[in-house]
Order: sequence, then C-alpha cells, then structure tokens
Amino acid sequence: MCGIVGYIGSRNVKEVVVGGLRKLEYRGYDSAGIATLEDGKLKVIKSVGRLVNLEDKLVTESLDGHLGIGHTRWATHGRPSDDNAHPHQDCSGRFAIVHNGIVENYLQLREELEAAGHTFRSETDTEVVAHLIEEVYNGDLFQTMIAVGERIHGAYALVVLAKDHPDTIFAMRKSSPLIVGLGQEENFIASDIPAILEYTRNVYVLDDGEMAVVRKDRVDCFTLDGIPVLKDVYQVTWDAVAAERGGYDHFMLKEIHEQPKAIRDTLTGRISEDLSRVVLPDLTLSDDKIRAIDRIHIVACGTSWHAGLVGKVVLEKYARIPVDVEIASEYRYRDAVRTDNTLIVVISQSGETADTLAALRECKARGLHVLAITNVVGSSAAREANDVLVTWAGPEIAVASTKAYTTQLIALYLLAVHLGQIRAELTLAQARDVLVALDSLPQLAEQVVDTAPHMEQFAKEWVHAEHTFFIGRGLDYSVALEGALKLKEISYIHAEAYAAGELKHGTLALITEGVPVIALATQPSLYEKTVSNIKEVKARGAFVLGLTWVGNEDLAKSVDAVIYLPLTAPDVAPILHVIPLQLLAYYAAVSRGNDVDKPRNLAKSVTVE
Ligand code: G6P
Repeated sequence: MCGIVGYIGSRNVKEVVVGGLRKLEYRGYDSAGIATLEDGKLKVIKSVGRLVNLEDKLVTESLDGHLGIGHTRWATHGRPSDDNAHPHQDCSGRFAIVHNGIVENYLQLREELEAAGHTFRSETDTEVVAHLIEEVYNGDLFQTMIAVGERIHGAYALVVLAKDHPDTIFAMRKSSPLIVGLGQEENFIASDIPAILEYTRNVYVLDDGEMAVVRKDRVDCFTLDGIPVLKDVYQVTWDAVAAERGGYDHFMLKEIHEQPKAIRDTLTGRISEDLSRVVLPDLTLSDDKIRAIDRIHIVACGTSWHAGLVGKVVLEKYARIPVDVEIASEYRYRDAVRTDNTLIVVISQSGETADTLAALRECKARGLHVLAITNVVGSSAAREANDVLVTWAGPEIAVASTKAYTTQLIALYLLAVHLGQIRAELTLAQARDVLVALDSLPQLAEQVVDTAPHMEQFAKEWVHAEHTFFIGRGLDYSVALEGALKLKEISYIHAEAYAAGELKHGTLALITEGVPVIALATQPSLYEKTVSNIKEVKARGAFVLGLTWVGNEDLAKSVDAVIYLPLTAPDVAPILHVIPLQLLAYYAAVSRGNDVDKPRNLAKSVTVE
C-alpha cells in the first residue's frame, strides 16, 4: 500500500509532488508527507489524515528546492499519526526516505540500531531504514544502498533524499511497484503511472530487485547488487484525462459508466471476424499443453476472486477442466495438490496484490505455467507470469472495483472458449453462440447502465437498512457475492450473499419484516427453483427486489419490485447483471454521505500481506 512520488528538475517541487500524491491517494490516505532539499537542508513536512491536511500545512511553506519526495500512507506498522507519516529521517537529519511495503526484520534491526545509539521517533518499520542508512553511510550512497538492501527483508519500494547529494534521488524496489518518469532536464519517480502522466509518457518500469539513481538529466538503473541494467522505455498510450473523473461526481460512477467501452476494448481483436474463434496470438501455451491441462487453479483476492468464481463455472462448462478458485492469502500457505499439468490463473486488477503475487511466485518456482489476468500492463503480475491476458479497462481509481471485474469476466470467458475449442469440448456452433453473445455485450451494457435512476431510488429507500441479502443460484450466486461485497465496501450496510437453495439451512432465520433481499433470477434453467426460494423469504416479510430478463413477466408475481435487463445468452448474463448491483451500492453510499471512492479502512491496491 502507500503511494510514492519523487521529482528532480526546475518545476515547483511542491506542486509536482503534491499533485502526484493526489493521483495516488487511492493507494492509501491516512497520512501524507513531503521532503525537499534546499540550500543544503532537508525540509520535512507531514500530516495525519487526508492529503488535504498536508496541503493546508504547506500553504505557508515556500519549499523552493529542485528535488523532493512525497508519500501517502496506508498504515501497517504504527497507527496513522504525524510521527508515523513518511518521510522518515535518521538521527542527524541527513536522509529522508519514503517507503511502500513491509520491512519484516524491522524489530531485530531496531534493537541493533538502538543499541548502537539511534533514537527512534515513530512506531514504523520504515524508520529503521533511515537509521540503517545513517549507520552504514560512508560518503558513498550507492554502496550504502546496496548494503542496506542486503540487510532488510520483506517488500519495499524505497526512495531516498540525502543532504550530501543535492543532485540525486535514489530509488530501489523489491516486490513493491516503482516507476521512473523520463522528462527533459527533469525526472520523476512514482508508485504508479497516473502520478506523473501530466508531465511525461516515457517511463522505466523498475523490475523487482532493481534500483535507479535519478538525476535531473539522466537515470541509471542497476540490480540491487549494483550491476548496471539497460531499461527499455515504456510509452504510456492512455490519456491523462482518462485517469480523471471526467465530469462524474465520483470515479466509481464514471467507472461504472465506462463498462461498455471497457468490455468492447477487452474484446477487440480477440474474436475472429466470423465470430467463431477466439484469437489470443500472444498466448505462449501450446495446443499440446492446453490439451494436457488436468486442472486449473484460479488464485485471486477480493473482487478478482469473485470474478474467478464465475470463471470456474464457464471453464468447467466449456473446457471440461476441473477448476478450484482459491483466495490467494490462503492458497500461498497451503500445500495445494498440483500436477505438472496444472494451469495457474492469477487474477489481479492492479497486478500488485501481495498475496496474489506471492502465490504466483510460488507456483512459478514449482515450474507451473502461470497465466495472469491483469489490468496493468507493466505490473509485477504481468511481468512475472508466463502468459498475460490484459483487461483493457483503463485506470481504475475508485477503491471499489467495477469495470475491472466485468473485463476480468470477459477475459475468463475468452479463455474458457479458447481452451474448450482446442480441447475439442466445444463445437464451432457452441463457441459461436458464446462469442456472438459476448460481442453484443457492449451495446447491452449501455442499456443496463440506464437502470441507474431505479437503483438510486431503491438505494434511497434502503438508506437506513442494517442488513441486506443477495440470493441467486449458479452464476447468479457468484454475481450475488460481488453485489454484496460492493454494498458492504462503500455503503457500510451489512450484506450477505447466499446460494438461494442454501437459505433454509440457517440464513432464513435472519429474514424479518422489511429486510431487503436482492434476488437474481437470470438463469432460465434454475428459474423455478429460485422463485421457490424467493417465496421463502417473502413469506418471512422480506422486501424482495428481483432482477431478471426483459419479457419474464412471471417474476413480478413473486417479488415487490423487478428490474428487467436485456435478454442475452444466460451464460453471459452475469456480466450485465452485476451492473445494477454496482449502481445500488454506489447510490446507497452516496445517500449515506460516505466517501464513495475512498471507503474507510480500505485501499485500492493491497501491496502488503
Ligand atoms: C483490494 C481492492 C479490491 C480488489 C482487491 C484485489 O481489496 O479494494 O477492489 O478486488 O484488492 O486487488 P487486485 O488488484 O489484485 O485485483
């Protein structure tokens, strides 16, 4: 977690660094700070709370230097406070550092450094790095950083300013993301591209275990043990405004509305013109290997895990391969049964989620083939996996994932059809049916987004609800899980998703007069069974909002209100039906006055365990 920005050049450092941090607030926002170097002095200013608190403090500060670093924090070690905010410094105030990640051996290092006379001001793991630099420093910062890198265990993106080096910013990474933005007579450092996009589109993506010595007019990259590395310049093709709110009240609403385009972009070029085949030219998995796959493990966290649950259904149905969907933080610590022919699919919007990456690395170390479905081209997952299926959703800023989820589903359907065709489990006609349905989704998604006023109305009616339930069977159950997560994350209303047929084994006891139940009934083959379960909750006084396909007038007889969604092939219906649930959560959060894009206690990208 946490966002880092660094700048060296002749612009106003305060503006560049704070502007960059604003773009990175999604990575954490419980405190922020900035350090600049001017006239041989390091100036550090920090503030607990949102970035705006730091900005208020900075109003009266000149900060005239030409290099600076900044940080927006999401607390891991030490509660949010001014002292625990970054940048951190050593005893003599010669160094200022910002850090994203966790120094796992910080307690041991802290004890050693305290014994050597260092005094600590914060409860953070990061501060040990500042003192360690001070302890090791012998005038050569480069060699010092190599030595420090050897001493610290864990994950880090570290950026260092040093009083004795007024023309250099030092950056290094292990497991936490870091990029260097390349300008003319100026250079930038950031955790993520949106922070620097206003100034440059040319970027070095630092690989795991690399460091960069960044000066105004040059950037030199090395491995962590000091061997020079030649980097390719990555050209960012997306627009700076694409990362802005573009007229919507919140990023989340903008991102919900972007789904038709995101779906279209993710499909583009991946279906043959006659809509009969999936085209994935970059996939390195040979047909023989695909035919040999004996099981698939999908590994992910949060919303991406929910996407995996839908993926399981379609992969098993189209490719006839047994699929397990695993929560990354569980999977990485258990000795799952795998064979040489197990395909690992990791799903991660950011491509930086610590648990997902750890699982990816463990699987790769065992020689398994890992395919990553991710939204960030230069992410660690994208770079480390054997194969990558990019979801072209564009930058997703709101903490609650929306367009990333729908495009992850698209990627999973494409993969399922592809594997099914190669394994001769799907006929051309069956594949065409799915691909035709996928192809029509962008247009249908436009219509679904138009349900917004209805969902706003329900959200307002339920603004004081304490508990809600989402029910469905089959694919509808997977979507119900995602709908409930969305509502919890941003409205803070307790929501539970249940397989409709399982209600009577316990949850039915929680249904009382007026409790909102959102019932998904999009699967004709399961429709009657679902209606029976709807009747069970209706009989206990629930208020039931049903979702079904347009033309199914029958559902209105059993529920209190119905949202009709465009008719499509039932298999792809989840991709449409999640959209009203996202809207419901959005408007519930707005009605309750919550910070929609930055819900309490949550962060967009969880880069620590
Ligand atoms: C956080 C975000 C979720 C996201 C999850 C996994 O919890 O708030 O929206 O689904 O991380 O993130 P990833 O980037 O790996 O998909």
